[in-house]
Amino acid sequence: MTLLKKLKIAGALGLAGAGVVATIAGTQALAADPDNHAPGKAVAGDALVGAPAGKDAGAPPDTTPGLVPRNAQEAAIERGRYVAVAGDCIACHTAHGSGKPFAGGLVLETPFGKLVGSNITQDVKTGIGSWTQEEFTRAVRQGKGKHGENLYSAMPYNAYAKVSDADMRDLWAYMKTIKPVENTVVANQLPFPFNIRLLMVGWNWLFFDNSPFKPDATRSVEWNRGAYLVQGLAHCASCHTAKNLFGADKSETLAGGTLGGWYAPNITGSRGGLHDWSVEQTVEYLQTGGNRISMASGPMAEAVENSTQHMSSADLRAIAVYLKSVAGPAMPARPAPLPADNAQMLLGARVYEVNCAACHGSDGKGLDGLVTSLGGNSALQAGVASNLINAVLRGTTPAITHGKPTGAGMPGFAWKLSDAEVAAVGSFVRNSWGNAAPAVSAASVAEARKSINAPAKLKFANAAR
Ligand code: HEC
Ligand code: HEC
Ligand code: HEC
Repeated sequence: MTLLKKLKIAGALGLAGAGVVATIAGTQALAADPDNHAPGKAVAGDALVGAPAGKDAGAPPDTTPGLVPRNAQEAAIERGRYVAVAGDCIACHTAHGSGKPFAGGLVLETPFGKLVGSNITQDVKTGIGSWTQEEFTRAVRQGKGKHGENLYSAMPYNAYAKVSDADMRDLWAYMKTIKPVENTVVANQLPFPFNIRLLMVGWNWLFFDNSPFKPDATRSVEWNRGAYLVQGLAHCASCHTAKNLFGADKSETLAGGTLGGWYAPNITGSRGGLHDWSVEQTVEYLQTGGNRISMASGPMAEAVENSTQHMSSADLRAIAVYLKSVAGPAMPARPAPLPADNAQMLLGARVYEVNCAACHGSDGKGLDGLVTSLGGNSALQAGVASNLINAVLRGTTPAITHGKPTGAGMPGFAWKLSDAEVAAVGSFVRNSWGNAAPAVSAASVAEARKSINAPAKLKFANAAR
């Protein structure tokens, strides 16, 4: 086999780690309680990249009768729980609706076939109950299985490589407390030749950056904490950075990526990204699943529910501060908005008034914190219109968070609108209220309808008029 061919296969395998959509279990049982111990608050000085010290870390055991002794080990477990939440381990390692956190079985649909999240409970037979701390650390940071075999990069070890030793120790202390659940998982269900683990050697050699997190001494403690979380544990780039042909991150970090029909927009500090978001607005989005500008749906709603809403305000602030500083690509020149007498705009305006205005308003402003504002929405005007098309075809479910326990959803319109009507209303919202973006084509709607298995428009539905 030629080297080129090898690289091609390795690349294909890497892609398996890219367009992965993880459907996340509804369970929040293991999520850290945000009111309990905002660990991020304790971040200071050299504790920068470690899990922040719990308040009792290092304190002598409390021997007061009747009180649970809170010793160093318990503090480590609590910190480890927080590390697991920030790393969103539960997302891929829990089957939807199983009620068995970490017992594996979640199918990750990749362009190359199925990968299944492993059982990482303490079960000796089917989980990681027999693993040593060293083996666990090697799996999470280096992508190696118990016997040194290569894991697929759908397990985001290329981000977790930046996790500190201290966080890994705490994470292991916590993982040791996970109740064993017997559940045999065959993680690798990729077809030949992608099922050959050895091929990941090439991918790792080409793309795996094994270096630990390097703090930047010229920046603040807060910035460094944000960089540590974004680049490592919170693995934001696994969705928000576009992938190359080999499925590895492109150089334009956090400038937008696609996964399973969703578009994870540009979240750099540049125009076209979070340039116009205040730090507080980013914190609100990550904490509650939405703000005046944008609401999280799809994979981001899941990331908010499982992970970011449970992170401390201090950590979310650090993330926001860091993102603001990340340079993004220059914004492509804004196209002139489609003229109002364009045929798509005329049809789109009618479809909008009948189907959308009741919630999003004739002015496109939505309802603060409840219904996404469409005017001035940067993600809506991204080059890729897939979230808009998906949202209109199948509807959306917002994140349910402590901050917004009763999120409003949006119904799907696949049954009601034809491809041409969805394209028209899409073009209309992308080119009204000061928005300007390329028109949406009926062909791209047809393609999305097929790929997300949405029903065709019903014959009697006559939505536009
Ligand atoms: C985006 C999805 C995803 C996330 C997030 C994720 N994992 Fe994984 N993980 C996987 C997949 C898929 C595999 C199986 C890979 C394989 O077999 O090649 C895996 C494998 C593993 C393994 C090896 C298990 C074995 O039996 O070989 C361990 C240990 C592990 N993950 C721990 C973690 C921890 C700890 C976290 C959180 C810090 C985490 N994972 C987060 C997808 C994920
Ligand atoms: C599993 C994939 C995934 C991960 C991991 C992820 N995101 Fe997202 N993110 C998305 C998608 C998809 C959207 C678009 C959601 C929508 O439009 O409703 C999004 C939207 C956003 C937005 C709103 C942008 C806008 O212009 O509306 C912000 C901010 C954001 N993510 C920040 C983050 C941060 C910070 C992290 C890491 C802590 C992260 N995301 C991790 C997939 C992901
Ligand atoms: C019943 C009220 C309702 C109707 C009708 C409605 N929407 Fe929505 N829409 C919402 C809510 C609520 C959200 C935010 C919820 C979320 O984030 O999941 C939303 C979100 C969106 C988004 C953002 C999706 C994303 O990527 O986050 C777009 C785009 C959108 N709507 C367009 C439309 C269009 C176009 C129509 C008409 C065809 C429409 N909506 C009809 C309530 C509605």
